[in-house]
Amino acid sequence: MDHKKLVQAGYNAIVAEYLASRPETSEDVLLLQELVTRLPAGAKVLDAGCGAGVPVARIMSQLFDVTGVDFAQAQIEMARQLVPDAKFICHDIVDLDLPDGFFDAVCSYYAIIHIPRQEHPQLLQNFYRLLKPGGLALLCLGANDIEHDIDDNYHGSPMYWSHFDADTNLRLIGEAGFEIILSKTVTDSTYPTSKHLFVLAGKKSCGSGS
Ligand SMILES: C[S@@+](CC[C@H](N)C(=O)[O-])C[C@H]1O[C@@H](n2cnc3c(N)ncnc32)[C@H](O)[C@@H]1O
Repeated sequence: MDHKKLVQAGYNAIVAEYLASRPETSEDVLLLQELVTRLPAGAKVLDAGCGAGVPVARIMSQLFDVTGVDFAQAQIEMARQLVPDAKFICHDIVDLDLPDGFFDAVCSYYAIIHIPRQEHPQLLQNFYRLLKPGGLALLCLGANDIEHDIDDNYHGSPMYWSHFDADTNLRLIGEAGFEIILSKTVTDSTYPTSKHLFVLAGKKSCGSGS
């Protein structure tokens, strides 16, 4: 089974259902302020796995130059309607081939957990490459060890998850080159038994000894 195609088909099918279930003032969304307050106005920000752009790309686009990327075309079409001030690209975030140092910041909410975990090191290295020196990443990753998980009825469609535990994720972020600024385990406000690891990490500035 191609797990990525399953995820892509699922998110193409559940645009309205997912959006209706997405909280906009929950702890995860408030954590965005950790990124917002560290960026200059007009900063170039990537929202990786942006979905329909609400709430994350919409909040960020009020202050920054936002590019949202998602591989589900139906999500991208909705995002273009809901967040007209941002740009949106339909692509897999693992091999997004924009130039080195293109962004001041990357944020990614609830997308990495849907990518087969053997691809997570490559994804983190690509985020690092896409950032300018001194750039920041705010990432939502798994908090526990789940190699493969499939739900046949996630908002009415089959869905797939895959991730490492929190300690492994923190190690992989470090191995990609990042310095961890903060990390926090957040309980999902919709599914209280589900927890995610949020990490704010930075790419070293030029001349910082690296
Ligand atoms: C749970 S939704 C999250 C959407 C949004 N970030 C939010 O916070 O509500 C996950 C999104 O990640 C996208 N996604 C999953 N794997 C992806 C990949 N490899 N490349 C691009 N997008 C991906 C899905 O299509 C979906 O829109």
